[in-house]
Amino acid sequence: MAAVRASGVVKRFESTCALDRVDLVVAPGEVRGLLGPNGAGKTTLLRILLGLVRPDAGSVELFDRPPAQAPALARVAGFVEEPSFYPYLSGRANLELLAELDRGAGAPIERVLERVGLASRAVDRLAGYSSGMRQRLAIAAALLGDPRLLLLDEPTAGLDPAGVREVGGLIRELAADGVAVVLSSHQISEVQDVCDTFTIVRRGRAVWDGTVAALRAQAPASAFALETSDDAHALALAARTPGVRGDASGRGLTLTAERGRLDAYRSRSDTPAWRSAGSSCWPARSSRCSSR
Ligand SMILES: Nc1ncnc2c1ncn2[C@@H]1O[C@H](COP(=O)(O)OP(=O)(O)OP(=O)(O)O)[C@@H](O)[C@H]1O
Ligand SMILES: [Mg+2]
Repeated sequence: MAAVRASGVVKRFESTCALDRVDLVVAPGEVRGLLGPNGAGKTTLLRILLGLVRPDAGSVELFDRPPAQAPALARVAGFVEEPSFYPYLSGRANLELLAELDRGAGAPIERVLERVGLASRAVDRLAGYSSGMRQRLAIAAALLGDPRLLLLDEPTAGLDPAGVREVGGLIRELAADGVAVVLSSHQISEVQDVCDTFTIVRRGRAVWDGTVAALRAQAPASAFALETSDDAHALALAARTPGVRGDASGRGLTLTAERGRLDAYRSRSDTPAWRSAGSSCWPARSSRCSSR
């Protein structure tokens, strides 16, 4: 039985087509990343899975049930956008209120606080929490119902690198227990170690679907804008390094390197001093654009 089985999901808001025939299948124990830029449709898809919004067309089933029935019956939990809490109450009091409202909540509050790394700050008022601590509390709230499917909208937003790793570790632990997780992000770098599979959404369409290894293998060469101490020399070296192309026709120097090839260039003893002035990481085009 799939944790999520969505097929041909369409959602329109007046003239905006937020989702255009999106398919998604997630197995128990799978961590699926929804990746895409602002306005791609990630939150709308999560809202539909959470049963907060109805699709205009298509079908959605969570553990073989419609989303509206699933939360209570099939233990589905999560959050979209910024979850809200009472700022004048402590983290623990907020969770106690939520557990009271949701009488089916099964996981003990102390265990949940421990799990998200908030036990030592549980008595502090929420108003004093950092954005990373709020994100953790939101995950704690989702864990209260001991879910089998977790739907998390940008769970790494606002976290520092250590926080991203901690939340990633927590998600992997849950997946190892058989929990299916769907999470959204703009940043592939933040979630590539957490997710087993990705769906890349762009302008409402699922333009790519597959494993992280397949995504890496298909990623086009990345372009790096560099500032160097000697552009002419850096360009000449690039010409002599397999898999690396240099271009100094614009402002500064741009190197386009196939995956793993930039290291060979960087490790040369005669490479001039340089620093990155930016890079591109999104796949330039979809490899499986739907033609429906
Ligand atoms: N309630 C709404 N009313 C009107 N348009 C909406 C509504 N919700 C979403 N949209 C539109 O649907 C599209 C998808 O929005 P959505 O919030 O799902 O994107 P997203 O991928 O989550 O973006 P972000 O990364 O900025 O959170 C956008 O064009 C948005 O303006
Ligand atoms: Mg969003």
